[in-house]
Amino acid sequence: MTPGKFITLEGLDGAGKSTQLTWLAEYMQNQGLNVVVTREPGGTPLGEQLRAILLDNTLTMHPETEALLMFSARREHLDKVICPALAQGDWVLSDRFTDASFAYQGGGRQVAIDRLEILEQWTQGVIQPDLTLYFDVPVALGKQRITQIKPADRFEIEQTDFFQRVRTAYLDRVNKFPERINRIDATQSIDEVRVAVEQAIKKFLPR
Ligand code: TYD
Repeated sequence: MTPGKFITLEGLDGAGKSTQLTWLAEYMQNQGLNVVVTREPGGTPLGEQLRAILLDNTLTMHPETEALLMFSARREHLDKVICPALAQGDWVLSDRFTDASFAYQGGGRQVAIDRLEILEQWTQGVIQPDLTLYFDVPVALGKQRITQIKPADRFEIEQTDFFQRVRTAYLDRVNKFPERINRIDATQSIDEVRVAVEQAIKKFLPR
């Protein structure tokens, strides 16, 4: 059995990550891989309830409460979905993972990075994604692209400076983990971004 790999997608809201995820899952399935598509916060019954709380724009919470809830959902997600799937050779495609906590809670909410690192270590030990695709767009473009079908959630109501800090934190992660995180220029057209995703993923597919 070829062991599966753990791939995560990251980016600002409006970067176009969800569009690419749908296509990528299909592409990987067409290569004969068993793909488990999941998301954070969420991915389990408990995680989805925590997601509802985390996105509820009528609630206020301390930034560290927010970080703890993100990692609580993640602990459950690893236990119930990610680890079992990888153990049976499936490929896991997650719409966001821990880089989002460093970007949104660390950058956006300014939670101390060393605290997030403790939570990361506690929650996932040595488990890290094999590959992360980071869809990079300037904040203004991301905002423009958000289709407001649903009301803005507790993150989407934030101001530009919050998202600037989130983007800066994501770019810091790209610099810190250049082997794992692949920055994709998501200002390009959907088709151009798709080609970049395909190039990044091809190196990972079994021959
Ligand atoms: P998102 O995938 O953007 O949901 P949707 O496409 O339905 O709007 O994720 C929801 C939000 O959660 C997003 O604004 C980023 C935030 N988030 C964090 O702040 N920290 C985290 O660790 C994760 C996983 C997500």
